[in-house]
Amino acid sequence: MTMTELPADPVAAAVQPLAIEVRGLRMSYGARQVLTGVDFDVRPGEVFCLLGPNGAGKTTTVEILEGFRQRTGGTVLVLGVDPADQRARLRERIGIVLQECGFPRQARVGELVDIWRAYYPRPRPLDELLAVVELTADRDAQVRRLSGGQRRRLDFALALAGDPDLVFLDEPTTGFDPESRRRCWAAIENLRSLGKTILLTTHYLDEAERLADRVAILQDGRVQTVGSVRQVARQAGVPTTISFTAPRAVRCGSVALPASLDIRVNGEVAVCRAANAAVALRELLAWAAANDLGDLDDLAVETPTLEDAYLRLVNGGSR
Ligand SMILES: Nc1ncnc2c1ncn2[C@@H]1O[C@H](COP(=O)(O)OP(=O)(O)OP(=O)(O)O)[C@@H](O)[C@H]1O
Ligand SMILES: [Mg+2]
Repeated sequence: MTMTELPADPVAAAVQPLAIEVRGLRMSYGARQVLTGVDFDVRPGEVFCLLGPNGAGKTTTVEILEGFRQRTGGTVLVLGVDPADQRARLRERIGIVLQECGFPRQARVGELVDIWRAYYPRPRPLDELLAVVELTADRDAQVRRLSGGQRRRLDFALALAGDPDLVFLDEPTTGFDPESRRRCWAAIENLRSLGKTILLTTHYLDEAERLADRVAILQDGRVQTVGSVRQVARQAGVPTTISFTAPRAVRCGSVALPASLDIRVNGEVAVCRAANAAVALRELLAWAAANDLGDLDDLAVETPTLEDAYLRLVNGGSR
């Protein structure tokens, strides 16, 4: 990546207003209420990920924030202004990658990015834009010859052309192979390191876990849960898993497992599910020492994934 990062000003950061503020957002399509009271904030410089099942209203929310859709009710501030009536003021400060979009297929990559740059008063240099999205080598390629993943990264370059403060990415990696997804992730991480604020939607929970500072789960018209991946996992009450090779003495029944812990032995492997990993580990090691079991072989602690938490929260919801 070749874009230069401006030095952060800690005082300015402390008093910086929110990048996005959403309160009681409502949206209906005809008689159908899609959003019934959505609340969330996005802080400057963070990657914020909106999750939720198909049809939950993620794209609707993003389009309202971008100023493409008029909301039914509630208040929305994007970079301090209401996108419903000040979209023109936001145009230069936000970058948008839509869930689906088209390009002139005959154009060449460098040409197209350059045309886009001309729309903005202070565009990022072409070379930098291509480098950030790893398309430098494809500068002279025709758009119609690009793969889906390359096209998506071209979307990014266009979204960045005006050097926006805030970037919206609606399902940036849907349908990509693992290699293309990783390249997109690298592009998003590059944006983040430049201090850009990013609002992302995705159905890939590993992607959200990897990229997001905070996630919000949208379901049944509202944000049901919001926080860092760890906070969300805690809220979902997903246990930590501690596994180890069951000692021979346990397998032949001469040593009993500690009754205070939820441990199941399956073949050679013992798996303990614990709400508090530190407490469980302490008890487990004390039990092993007291019973002369030595070090527990292959001891591993697996923290809950966002996927575990999401599935628990969404399935446990009112649906
Ligand atoms: N222009 C429209 N007119 C009528 N209904 C719409 C319109 N756009 C979206 N909807 C409906 O609103 C609901 C929310 O759609 P939206 O596209 O915001 O969901 P989403 O969370 O982005 O879903 P996905 O994960 O599939 O992208 C859906 O039931 C959809 O059918
Ligand atoms: Mg969508």
